[in-house]
Amino acid sequence: MSVHIMVFDSGIGGTTVLEQIQALIPNADYSYFMDNALLPYGSQSQQTIIDRLLALLCFIESRALQVDILVIACNTASTSALEAIRPYTNIEVVGVVPAIKPACAISKSKHIGLLATPSTNKSRYTANLISTHSQGTRVSLYGSTTLVEIAEALFHTQILNEAKLAKVLSDLAIAEEIDVLVLGCTHFPLLASAISNYYKQRIILIDSGKAIAKRVESLISLRGFTFTTGKKKPLHYYATAPICHSQLSVELITLTDQIPRGNH
Ligand code: DGL
Repeated sequence: MSVHIMVFDSGIGGTTVLEQIQALIPNADYSYFMDNALLPYGSQSQQTIIDRLLALLCFIESRALQVDILVIACNTASTSALEAIRPYTNIEVVGVVPAIKPACAISKSKHIGLLATPSTNKSRYTANLISTHSQGTRVSLYGSTTLVEIAEALFHTQILNEAKLAKVLSDLAIAEEIDVLVLGCTHFPLLASAISNYYKQRIILIDSGKAIAKRVESLISLRGFTFTTGKKKPLHYYATAPICHSQLSVELITLTDQIPRGNH
């Protein structure tokens, strides 16, 4: 069996990370799990997100899905719950966090923006990340859950609501001198070209997708996970609420609150 990588998000945002991982590691087996019943995670409490991730671990365990690497492709879940769930599992868990460090490194104006969900912006994890990596660079925070809705709609209908996007960006009033904007939500790369056009390509947009793919690649070699040459398993999608998408077939599942047996 090839290494099994499960990518998790509240919705379809994690597919932007999945794409980067698949491009780098084409021979792994993949599954994708979206907890869309509670979308957006940006409006959930930290405890609710921790409970959902623990329930996800129980689901993986109860189905014996043999997940080797679980990628929490959601900045909101990673910044608020990753450390809390690690003790409950032997699975390698990889999180995504906003790309503050590389953004500060390339900013010429020394003023960057973080565009994320309100929960990511409020989290202690994000505050620590900024204070550790932003020396000499000002970081302004901009929060939106409407952008998550716009990205979801674009993915499912292939139609971008440009007027709604322009309204959100105009209301955010991103400071003029900002030259790098961190896309600190995995949904936002789906809107990257539209956001870039809105700012007339004046702002560099940066996300964590490629860095996560590299992290997964190094974890595979570090842990000695292997690949088989036979036929690859098709990508399996799980969702906690029905979705309307013409091409995607998903298995609908229910997450029930419980504490995983794990190794805690
Ligand atoms: N995609 C998620 C993230 O990276 C959050 C979207 C949501 O609020 O559910 O933060």
